[in-house]
Amino acid sequence: MTTWSRRDVLKTGVVLQGAAFFPARTLGEIAAAIAPVGLRERLLLDFGWRFHFGHGTDATKDFGYNSGRNGSFQKTGNFLPAAALPYDDTGWSDVDLPHDWVISLPFKNDASLSSKGFYPIGRSYPENSVGWYRRVFDVPMEDKDKRISVEFDGVYREALVVFNGYYIGRHHGGYDRFRYDVTDFVKPGAPNVLLLRVDATESDGWFYEGAGIYRHAWLVKTAPVHVAQWGTFVRSTVQGGRASLEIRTEVENHAGATRGVRVTSTVLDASGKAVAKVSSKPMAVPNDGMGTFEQQVSVSNPELWSLEQRNMYRLVTEVEADGAATDHYETRFGIRTLRFDADTGFYLNGKSVKIKGTCNHQDHAGLGVALPDAAQRFRVKTLQEMGCNAWRSAHNPPTPELLDACDEMGMLFLDETRMMSSNPEGIAQFENLIRRDRNHPSVFMWNMGNEERESTTETGLHMLSTMKRSATKLDGSRPVTVAPPPLGLSLGQGGLMVSDVIGYNYADPQIEAFHKTHPTLPCLGTENVSAVATRGAYAIDAEKGAVSSYDPYTTTGRASAEGWWRFVNTRPWMPGGFVWTGFDYRGEPSPYQWPNINSEYGFVDVCGFPKDTYYYYQAWWTDRPVLHVFPHWNWDGLEGKQIAVWVHSNMDRVELFQDGVSLGTKDVPRDSHLQWLVTYKPGVLEARGVRNGQQMITRRETVGKAAKLAIRLDRTEIAADGTDLAFVTAEVQDAEGRTLPITDHEVTFRVTGVGRVIGTGNGDPTSHEPDTGSIRKAFAGLCMGIVQSTKQAGSISVEISSPGLQSASAALTTHATELKPQVTVWKRTPLAGEGVTGLWRPVVAEGPGGPDPLQLAVSGDTLYVFVQNGTVLTGTLDGPPAAFGPAVTGAIQGTVEGGRVQFKVGATTYEGFVSGDRMELRRTVPPRPAGPARPGDTSPRPAIGPPPDGSDPSLGGGNRGGSQPPLTLRRSQR
Ligand code: GAL
Repeated sequence: MTTWSRRDVLKTGVVLQGAAFFPARTLGEIAAAIAPVGLRERLLLDFGWRFHFGHGTDATKDFGYNSGRNGSFQKTGNFLPAAALPYDDTGWSDVDLPHDWVISLPFKNDASLSSKGFYPIGRSYPENSVGWYRRVFDVPMEDKDKRISVEFDGVYREALVVFNGYYIGRHHGGYDRFRYDVTDFVKPGAPNVLLLRVDATESDGWFYEGAGIYRHAWLVKTAPVHVAQWGTFVRSTVQGGRASLEIRTEVENHAGATRGVRVTSTVLDASGKAVAKVSSKPMAVPNDGMGTFEQQVSVSNPELWSLEQRNMYRLVTEVEADGAATDHYETRFGIRTLRFDADTGFYLNGKSVKIKGTCNHQDHAGLGVALPDAAQRFRVKTLQEMGCNAWRSAHNPPTPELLDACDEMGMLFLDETRMMSSNPEGIAQFENLIRRDRNHPSVFMWNMGNEERESTTETGLHMLSTMKRSATKLDGSRPVTVAPPPLGLSLGQGGLMVSDVIGYNYADPQIEAFHKTHPTLPCLGTENVSAVATRGAYAIDAEKGAVSSYDPYTTTGRASAEGWWRFVNTRPWMPGGFVWTGFDYRGEPSPYQWPNINSEYGFVDVCGFPKDTYYYYQAWWTDRPVLHVFPHWNWDGLEGKQIAVWVHSNMDRVELFQDGVSLGTKDVPRDSHLQWLVTYKPGVLEARGVRNGQQMITRRETVGKAAKLAIRLDRTEIAADGTDLAFVTAEVQDAEGRTLPITDHEVTFRVTGVGRVIGTGNGDPTSHEPDTGSIRKAFAGLCMGIVQSTKQAGSISVEISSPGLQSASAALTTHATELKPQVTVWKRTPLAGEGVTGLWRPVVAEGPGGPDPLQLAVSGDTLYVFVQNGTVLTGTLDGPPAAFGPAVTGAIQGTVEGGRVQFKVGATTYEGFVSGDRMELRRTVPPRPAGPARPGDTSPRPAIGPPPDGSDPSLGGGNRGGSQPPLTLRRSQR
């Protein structure tokens, strides 16, 4: 039998025709001849994208998509002009991922936009709701026999994926990772074009969700026999100083024939030492099938993962197919035990841990939802410093890098799916979440839904039972929970009883009653408190959109921060819970509407600047000494009036002084705060705290006029990887270096060297300044600039300035680092040379809404590459695929003499003139020959009517050739 490689088959049209009729088995045999090739590569596909807004309703502004002239889905292979390589994307802008286009939109006072933070997106704003992304990349010839996939960690929201002009698929969810295997559509040894249309017209949440490819993208290459996506799972049990690991590995075979597959699993400890190894027997895995391998190993004296010791292990999976190595896949995991006890709470590795959690959405000041990985770590660190030890990803699957940060920094994670449902989409999202995240030791529970009315019904029981079966099948090592409707009336009803741990949102008295009637069921606060505060504000001011920072101010009359924590901390059966929220977030402006554009639930604002209640938690959630006094002490006009002075502290006792005079000493009640009523006069408040004989002092002083800026960087050295960040705080101070409490000074962040400012913020819930610029007003003394490295190592100088204030600057170093393996940025090589040498493109007639899409489709994406050598003209013509037939491509042969140009491509002749950057041409297509007469037939043909020989005069006839409409070319840079 002749052996053909798959690409050989594809190369020859003749065989291709035949191949279409081959029975499936024969195709399988052909593919079977492909030798196993190199092992896995996972390449970051974040850099070098081009972006352009489309349109939700007007096809002429949406690159012709669904124009109605041609159904976009009518044929495979020439989906849209922008999907073809020669397409001119000059008008598109350069973007890197992660990218959220919404934060660059201007705010709009439209009540229907409130939940989205008053950004104009959605059905009424079709011009802002669709974005196109285009990325060209080379696939080397060596990859011709690999399986190739594109993978997206999160695209908001409907992603239509086109590859090399072929429609690949549509993914609806805005939060779950999806992957398309594009192997059949790859052009090895050539540039390949990936095009996405992202449509954020529809939305999920009642909070800001952003839009675009807002998480990482990846290009994954494997051999035909490889570990399936998220195809490994390590489940551990620990007993008597030994961990037993059950390792499940799923291997896919696309080699074209059954393969004998063997899996070797090696467990490496943190130092890289192998601590366990096991090899399977070969298993026959059929072509296009999957083999599941179950293995057991044990690890003695395992280094457990805990909040303090973040010990991680690595599982190295090596796959052999018929004796040849075909995959090497690594899985990070941790060994630890979890247990909920209905009487005594939660245990990690047998040690009681109170869950001091916060719920968080995923946006951040200056970035929207497009957070570089360093921002995830910054956010985890900010909350950790407050003592928070658990994170709930409300109300959607998180980005994997947040879980990595939690694994590495020691934060428990309540991992939540988007919509509670067992419909195909809902269950797929939940199962993907589990498969993707089940090896993270930080993930300690699955949350199947939030405040779904249906969770309490019989239908809810069906849905949640199905979801739980998925969790058991794919994991089985973690409890499931549901965050129920907030009133607490429905606890224990319908589907809620499927939960292993009974969640409750806000309803403290009701969960207490429930615990009494169901003493054997563990409970947990899935969402609590919902108190609001504006950083630096101490009075309600609806005009300014400000809420006071004393606890409690709530939007809902739910528990205060202190009330809730005292409830939790005095009940051993209550393992803890998740406060709404750690960070402020865009959207759901509460308690006010416009001009407020973000919520005020956070302990910290959208930048991560602490509000006063942050110190309450820090006092009672950490062991560090805390002594925080508020409010500020600049109350012009309130002289002689009483002001409540609060102290959040975990000292034993605190004495408060006003201008050196003691106002008394108070013992600090556990889980509470201290208060003095103080008659205001400008001066100094000083709190002196004592704990275990050690003294701590905190002052609040009446400050003078703004005089200077102070600068603080969260890190002074970052990686030169083009993604790492430094968070720069600008603080407005008086001449003596004291923070001004009320400010609106405009601060400019200026960066020189190997970095750039990518966003700013100030935590003012009514700020309508753009987040993407480099100027920001200081709000309550502070604003923030976010500086990102480039891929060049060196130094960055960050300068902050504001009219009338003394500037400040700081230095930042970026160190060379090994870049994550990534897809090289593709650029068309511009040609330099004499005369007309260069890239030329047809001038396309403008219609009312831009270039006529039909014209674009016919000629607009054709690229003429000319090389002039004296009078000799050579080059290539690269056109988009035609509707029926191959792309118009070919070699250019001709001459340029003076301004006269003539050349041929195939049988088509071009003649005309060039002047500067324009070329006017006439095209002549040779006439098609008349239909042939029957061989040997010499009988006369009638002037009217068909020839007597019965041949078909409609074939050919020569009437289509001749001169074509004139063509104007222009020089192009891309
Ligand atoms: C909860 C809801 C959250 C948020 C919060 C505001 O009921 O689950 O998403 O809306 O209320 O208080």
